[in-house]
Amino acid sequence: MRVACLQFCPEFKNLDANTNIIIDAVRSANADVFIAPELATSGYFFQSRNELRDVAQGLDGEHSRAIIEVARETNTVVVCGFAEADGNSLYNSALIAGPDITPHTYRKTHLFYKERLCFDPGNSGFYCTPLPHLDCTLGTMICYDWRFPESARALALQGADLVVCPSNLVTHLWRMAMPVRAMENKVFLAVANRTGSEESHAETVSFNGCSAVYDTNGGTLVEANATETSVIITEIDPASARTKSFNAINDIFADRRPELYTR
Ligand code: ACM
Repeated sequence: MRVACLQFCPEFKNLDANTNIIIDAVRSANADVFIAPELATSGYFFQSRNELRDVAQGLDGEHSRAIIEVARETNTVVVCGFAEADGNSLYNSALIAGPDITPHTYRKTHLFYKERLCFDPGNSGFYCTPLPHLDCTLGTMICYDWRFPESARALALQGADLVVCPSNLVTHLWRMAMPVRAMENKVFLAVANRTGSEESHAETVSFNGCSAVYDTNGGTLVEANATETSVIITEIDPASARTKSFNAINDIFADRRPELYTR
């Protein structure tokens, strides 16, 4: 199964230009699963709900529909970060679309920094998307969710073979932790991060690229550099993530003792 991550620098509030970049990349990647960064259609550094509301849309919005359409047209499962409007609520979401998939969203559970000024906390919870045509179960989390081992663990316990993480990462600590999230759950993990920086209200945030796909032992299968626009692609065998043993006796899921994990 071919997994691709798009890394680029979205232009703040330019939904047309960003969506065109994503669509072109999906068409040329020829991937089975394609991941774009967090808030890839809108850019990141919103500081008020009013500002965000101008660019947020539902799955029926023009740019959401264009991404859903390219997923169908190219037979690709696309996971793409976007600002989601649902009535008065605004979510930092990932759109999940593809052949035989009813388009749906994962809404970011753990809001980072000034996201709290603009977004509602996600209410979708962690859940998996079955991809029977690929013999794969997909789990989605977004960026800062990485800091909480419960995120990837919840997805892995639900059967995720591949965890994807659309991201706009601003510290480098994630590069230690994401491979560990893959290793401790024995899942494949794909991080689509963005590059560049954004300035708003005299504050600058910088994003550090290095998008990567990790194997079930936390090894790096493919990795982008810190600054360049790129599409990284690798092959994975999702079924190999279902064996949770690492020797003849130990199995990291069977060995868990959740009854002792509460205080
Ligand atoms: C982040 O959650 N965008 C750091």
